[in-house]
Amino acid sequence: MNMSFRYGLILVALLSLFALYNAIIYSSTSDYGKVSLSEKALNGEQVWLQNNCNACHQLYGLGGYLGPDLTNEYTRINNEAYLKAMINSGVKVMPKFNFSTTQLNDLIQFLKEVDQTGYYPNMEAVTRAYGWVNLKYKTPLHEK
Ligand code: HEC
Repeated sequence: MNMSFRYGLILVALLSLFALYNAIIYSSTSDYGKVSLSEKALNGEQVWLQNNCNACHQLYGLGGYLGPDLTNEYTRINNEAYLKAMINSGVKVMPKFNFSTTQLNDLIQFLKEVDQTGYYPNMEAVTRAYGWVNLKYKTPLHEK
């Protein structure tokens, strides 16, 4: 068989494998499941977006870094009244917002439902006496 014809066949075989691989990857449904927010939380997300909370705060580590990550803020503070009061009075460089009761309730619902989607960071570092650091995952990883 002609050498360049053989190379051509190999190339065609590799390209079709590549095409098949891509078709499988891009048509497979995600392992992580769908996260759907309630109507109230979606309204809260609008308040979050329209007031640029994300410019200073992060959800799952993404956002601005002036303020803390708020992914698990709801369970960390564990006090809705405190959260609402805090948001409407401001702290240090965080501006004071003048949200209505509905806006505050929606916003808190958004933070609550975001909190229920998982942990960020998903690990805790446990430092041993001899200096070794063990990472403990809060929820099991999908990829090992
Ligand atoms: C200009 C930047 C900025 C914006 C915009 C901002 N924040 Fe903050 N926020 C901060 C900073 C900085 C802190 C930490 C203050 C401190 O305790 O030192 C904070 C703290 C918080 C806390 C308490 C965190 C804690 O554990 O002490 C919550 C809750 C919060 N912000 C929610 C919001 C929400 C909701 C919005 C949008 C409506 C928002 N922030 C917009 C800067 C901002």
